[in-house]
Amino acid sequence: MKFETADLKPEEIVTLKLRGIFCEQGYKKYKMSRFEEYGLYAANKDFLGGDKVITFTDLDGRLLALKPDVTLSIIKNTRAGLSSREKLYYIENVYRESKESHTFKEIPQVGLEFIGKVGNEGIIETVCLAAETLKTVSRNYVLEISHMDFAVELLQSMDLNEEDYFHILRLIRSKNADGIKTASEEAGLTEEQREKLCKLTELYGSVQKTLNAARKLVINDTMEDSLIQLEKVCKGVSASGITGRLQIDLSMVNDIDYYNGIIFRGYLKNHRSNVLAGGQYDKALRLFGKKAEGIGFALYLNEISREEKIKSQGSKNKNRRMLSIALPKGRLGSRVYRLLEQAGYGCPGYDGKNRKLVIENKQKGIRYLFVKPADVAVYVEHHAADMGIVGKDIIMETEPDVYELMDLKTGICSMVTAAPKGYKEDTDRTLKVATKYVNVAKQYYLEKNRDIEIIKLNGSIELAPILGLSDVIVDIVETGSTIKENDLEIIEGFRQISAFLIANRSSFKFCNKMITEMTERLRRII
Ligand code: PRP
Repeated sequence: MKFETADLKPEEIVTLKLRGIFCEQGYKKYKMSRFEEYGLYAANKDFLGGDKVITFTDLDGRLLALKPDVTLSIIKNTRAGLSSREKLYYIENVYRESKESHTFKEIPQVGLEFIGKVGNEGIIETVCLAAETLKTVSRNYVLEISHMDFAVELLQSMDLNEEDYFHILRLIRSKNADGIKTASEEAGLTEEQREKLCKLTELYGSVQKTLNAARKLVINDTMEDSLIQLEKVCKGVSASGITGRLQIDLSMVNDIDYYNGIIFRGYLKNHRSNVLAGGQYDKALRLFGKKAEGIGFALYLNEISREEKIKSQGSKNKNRRMLSIALPKGRLGSRVYRLLEQAGYGCPGYDGKNRKLVIENKQKGIRYLFVKPADVAVYVEHHAADMGIVGKDIIMETEPDVYELMDLKTGICSMVTAAPKGYKEDTDRTLKVATKYVNVAKQYYLEKNRDIEIIKLNGSIELAPILGLSDVIVDIVETGSTIKENDLEIIEGFRQISAFLIANRSSFKFCNKMITEMTERLRRII
């Protein structure tokens, strides 16, 4: 049988091409064991962004893990220092938690690490190789770059307590300007400080325009230096012929204990999230007692295998790209649809009464999908919809990896604990809590250090304490009639909820004009 390279899968072709590119640039292949001491990950959870790893005991009784990450092992083992460098690349599988399937998934990666005296030259070389890597998969890519010191320094200058600091940092990462405003007001920041933090969420786009806007926020030499370095790196990368595809986003911030300086992410059109991630990790090297600088990136090959399918879909559909928006079915859905209609995004002939799940306004290039309220964020995170409108209760519960562009100040309700009238808590017993919001409830009682047993229900939560299924409930209350009509009373309201306009991270890069226009129009009427 004759073998043709065309028979190879897209990810196999990409891997072969990248091996050629990395070898030509002097990078050596690094093959490692699939297993690593579990302790390495237990001690560095923040680097991994989670603590879920597959563990097992080996024949000597040691607790090992299937690697969730390659860079940590390379850092642990590197002999490079400031006078001797290592340039490595690897093709390895890592094993990480899959939120959607509630199990582990195997992710094939191709990555590259430059450890030693890296300097600006090494950074530029690595960022250029990241761009080259993306181009190997598709010409339709965006490489987004940021400098850790810019946002971190601004935030650290504000003297926040640890809880507020990390809360606001998370809001910055999700471009939630409305959330930042509220959180920084509650943290007692001045109006000027609040405005600066909110502005951070707008610092994205073309290099020069973003750098100019960022300069207005500078408050000290560290922030100034971060912009100078960012500009130098962007100029160096552009000088290598990579222009137009490089963008800045200063709301991108990695873990501050491990990363420093330049960080970046790569996006491909029509892919749900970033397919490449990388950055400088001198701090991580220091944590391992290594006197060296380091930078690297990884490309997630599992995402690439979808590329061929996407390309073939794209060639069949030459029509104008429509912006798809997931709306929650039910009372919130009709309310937010009316808002969109007012903003000029209505669908002629639609009265909100029929059972159609998809409606379109071809002229405006808008398609609405009506889905279960709890599924809106899933559709958006997975790129089945570009945008969506979802209650903050669902965002708190599922923490989707999306941008939270705007608080629509509608669908206002409270997250509460409630119990039958006259209920007296027995603090000597485990508290039985019925709820749809398992994670929210766990967090709420964790802060109170209360032992609980959760009973997960999907609706009519108020019935649970009446029938003795639970002692209390954690649920949302809007008008209060369900609570009242079922003889319950609120124990504590602990969080205001409203509907948010959310966007898929990749759609935000590739359909930015349409998304920004819609956000601005909605802002004008709210
Ligand atoms: C929600 C919530 C409460 C009710 C509160 O349920 O879980 O049961 O609304 O609203 P109110 O304060 O205006 O009475 P939903 O209507 O979504 O139905 P569900 O019970 O099927 O989840």
